[in-house]
Amino acid sequence: MCDEINQDMKDQFPHCMHWRLERDADDILWLFLDRQDETVNALSAAVLRELDAIIAYAESQLPAGVAILSGKATGFVLGADIREFSGFSDAAQVTASIREVHAMFSRLEALRCPTVAAFEGYCLGGGLELALSCGYRIARDVPATRIGFPEVQLGIFPGFGGSARSVSRIGGMKAMELMLSARQLNARQARAVGLVDEVIGRHEELYWAARRAILGRRRSSAPSLLARATNLAPVRRLLAKQMRKQTAARAREAHYPAPYRLIDTWERFGGDRAAMLQAEAEEVGRLMVTPQAGGLRRVFGLMDRLKREGRQSEFRARRVHVIGAGVMGGDIAAWCVLQGLEVTLQDREMKFIEPALKRAETLFRKKRLEPAAVKSALARLQPDVEGTGVNKADVVIEAIVERLDAKQALLAQVETRLRPGAILATNTSSIPLEAIATALQDPSRLIGLHFFNPVAKMPLVEVVRGVQSDEESLLRGAAFCGQINRYPLPVSSSPGFLVNRVLAPYMLEAMIMHAEGIPLEAIDAAAEAFGMPMGPVELADTVGLDVCLMVTGTLNAGADAKSATQSAADTLRTLVNAGHLGRKSGKGFYTWSNDKAQKQNDKSTGQDLAALCARLIKVYTAECRPRCGMGLSPTPTCWMPA
Ligand code: NAI
Repeated sequence: MCDEINQDMKDQFPHCMHWRLERDADDILWLFLDRQDETVNALSAAVLRELDAIIAYAESQLPAGVAILSGKATGFVLGADIREFSGFSDAAQVTASIREVHAMFSRLEALRCPTVAAFEGYCLGGGLELALSCGYRIARDVPATRIGFPEVQLGIFPGFGGSARSVSRIGGMKAMELMLSARQLNARQARAVGLVDEVIGRHEELYWAARRAILGRRRSSAPSLLARATNLAPVRRLLAKQMRKQTAARAREAHYPAPYRLIDTWERFGGDRAAMLQAEAEEVGRLMVTPQAGGLRRVFGLMDRLKREGRQSEFRARRVHVIGAGVMGGDIAAWCVLQGLEVTLQDREMKFIEPALKRAETLFRKKRLEPAAVKSALARLQPDVEGTGVNKADVVIEAIVERLDAKQALLAQVETRLRPGAILATNTSSIPLEAIATALQDPSRLIGLHFFNPVAKMPLVEVVRGVQSDEESLLRGAAFCGQINRYPLPVSSSPGFLVNRVLAPYMLEAMIMHAEGIPLEAIDAAAEAFGMPMGPVELADTVGLDVCLMVTGTLNAGADAKSATQSAADTLRTLVNAGHLGRKSGKGFYTWSNDKAQKQNDKSTGQDLAALCARLIKVYTAECRPRCGMGLSPTPTCWMPA
């Protein structure tokens, strides 16, 4: 009987490429999403077209229930297929496509049989919206399970019915917090907020729990009174005001309109699901074609490219040894521990390691680790003055003072104790790798892993290739970055690598403008209005003027002594010599109090911010522009040792 039905289904869906269908002896219709030729599932137009036909089949040949699962080991659904978004240029057209998906999901929701989504791994964006259209949701409790709405990061908000369904299911307060923050929940957190109805532990249980839910005709329980109360008009007005204030503290409306439009939509229609669905389709259609959404999609694509850099080697580290427990080394060690690795941290004396251990504990608490997890993280971070950790480490990162002789002497010693295949990396920001490597018996082992300050907040790591660096070590270095949740950016060992190379001229231009009499506050305000998270002057103070001086020194070697750039560098030197290092010393270009630059914002009044901004950004983009058709080219000053 079952075979007959399944044969019948195969006949009905001869061209179904992305969904595997089964109808079992209990008359349950099983839908396994396994997108063809892709390693992960995303809801492409083709996937949705096939789903539409399957729902039509379920409507006409009503099964005992419908269960939706993933046919891939990599997770459920990552979201809609972003690559298809780039074809959209007309808001009305996007809205029309969204309405088609709304109609389909509403038909799934209205099927006259139980519907269940059972998943593990990613259940994000469109995946969660599909799951919310089912009557019951089951999630497996594993670290890989991530449930949430990342849409605001792409300049839109959930448009496949997810905004309307989530606010009516779990209440406006919780749903809006999730959508506005793009926070991803694990299975237990999702159950606690009401997005998931049942949590199971083992992979095989997903199937049995789905079957049980269908045969028991289970449905999510009705939203709580409190959840419903948050959608009442006076409460919405009050909460929306607060949400706008919190959002404004994080993102400007001009650059990130999506969260603001989501708040508006919920405030107006949050009490009426049908009206919210209508408004969602229109608003997301409009947002999708904005330049802001286009820009954010581009950023997403670039980040994805960087992530792929980290997947070219199977290398996985267990133990990391960091040498130098200062600002960078201490924080790199703490970050690696937070990512589950065992770390030994070396410095000249215990007194140099102690502050790093304290900072690590603060970081673990800030990341809201439970007390037991903080304890186990601290146990994975071992002070190691003798440096015995080198012998066992899979990765050794040197982050001692920026002096060639010191680095050479240290790494020559380390090399003799290094395990075969272990990564040997330096965090230098200005010394050529080739110069450091001359001290090694096997110079090819040395690569650069250039982290940014503060390590826990900066997702990029430059993976630096010296001319002598071994290819395999570079791939391993990139894989290590991926392992610790950082984006590896491959760069050559040329002055400033990439980030400092493009930042330095922009920051120097700000100093030149200041020397011309333009107030610091106006320069920063112009950059912030453009979309920079902080202006170049405040950034220089934050990084440290001594660090800026060192970087500009490297990049500017050989510059004309009378040039404006050189005089800006001289201003920097004068400040550094006077002990004004920026935020860390309490004074730089600005005076700092309570970790805040004391700005006189009225100094921006009357300044042509658009013109200032154009001048700043021109320098920035000029440095990025391909020369000789090859992207960033080496600066005229060669930094290779003679
Ligand atoms: P830091 O001065 O804060 O720390 C250096 C640490 O190395 C000190 O604790 C010192 O006691 C220790 N040390 C010196 N010689 C040692 C040796 N032979 N053996 C063991 N420990 C030794 O320096 P910071 O700022 O952490 O910089 C470290 C490296 O990271 C430098 O190469 C720097 O260029 C690079 N870097 C710094 C950034 C920053 O924003 N500070 C950003 C990116 C890279």
